[in-house]
Amino acid sequence: MIDALFAGGPVYTASAPGKLMLFGEHGVVYGRPCLVTSVGLRVSAAVQVHAEPWLTISTAASRATGAPFRVPLAQLGAALRPETAFVEAVAARVLKLAEWQTGLTISTDGPPLSYGLGSSSAVTVATAAGVAAALGLHLNADELFRVCHAAVIDAQGKGSGFDVASAIHGGTIRFENGRATALPSTILPLMIGYSGAKVSTRRFVDGVGRLRERNPILVERMFDLIAELVEQAQQALAQRDWVRLGDLADINQGLLDALGVNTPPLARLVFAAREAGALGAKLSGAGGGDCMFAVAPAPAEHAVKAALASNGQYVDLPLGVPGVSVTCRP
Ligand code: PMV
Repeated sequence: MIDALFAGGPVYTASAPGKLMLFGEHGVVYGRPCLVTSVGLRVSAAVQVHAEPWLTISTAASRATGAPFRVPLAQLGAALRPETAFVEAVAARVLKLAEWQTGLTISTDGPPLSYGLGSSSAVTVATAAGVAAALGLHLNADELFRVCHAAVIDAQGKGSGFDVASAIHGGTIRFENGRATALPSTILPLMIGYSGAKVSTRRFVDGVGRLRERNPILVERMFDLIAELVEQAQQALAQRDWVRLGDLADINQGLLDALGVNTPPLARLVFAAREAGALGAKLSGAGGGDCMFAVAPAPAEHAVKAALASNGQYVDLPLGVPGVSVTCRP
């Protein structure tokens, strides 16, 4: 929907998907690979250039109050306000890259509950793609990744960028040190369960960092094991070997537990899924809350969905959806 905020003239609307971390979380912050797939939880950013020296930012929160946020161009990127940090940070960086100093109207939209499935990275990628299109700046996937990853670091302080890469490329990718490789598309027999919101990704990334400082040899070896697990999971995906993928999910879950990021609500979902016949299950992402997934091809599918629903929330979203796209209303 293009809101009343826009004047006549072209409006560029970009849409980007959320993500589900499959294997390799935490290790990926320390240079190891991970596997991630996109989810059909799309966030959009509609963008129009205007001549005033400010950014007008409309979000679901600002629409509820009736007043969009207004950020003077001279202050853009300097002090990010929490409600619009990702949008402001990435708009500032794309404007700088384009060597443009112009006002913009940006209106973002997305689902009311994002389950920790990557709405911040999706809004960052959608805003970057929309602003770049509105400014006539062509960015290839690597350039888009660099500008979005830098903006996510500005707004949140840390992050491997796997979520940004997933929002850009869509599908299922292997991600390592800022580089994304597309994996062949396969229908993934995965069921997502939601355990409730977590405090912050940053807190759990920092917690693992401190554990690593106190126990460098053990934690580095665990990261190496997780990296080996990612290699094997990539093979299992290619061979559609769901029994093996389930084993790997269970082993990865054990390692994440050892890293201290499991919680009772996540563990309940994981055990409930296994008891209902899943081939394996693990938490997804930083841990501390948010989502897990179960490997549950037929015939376990229905029993596993019911087990997730009764021990938390079953999240029914398509996986491996396309990455960022931009349309223009002339
Ligand atoms: O909690 P999420 O879904 O944002 O995932 C974080 C994954 C980590 O590997 C822990 C951090 C990162 O930036 O890769």
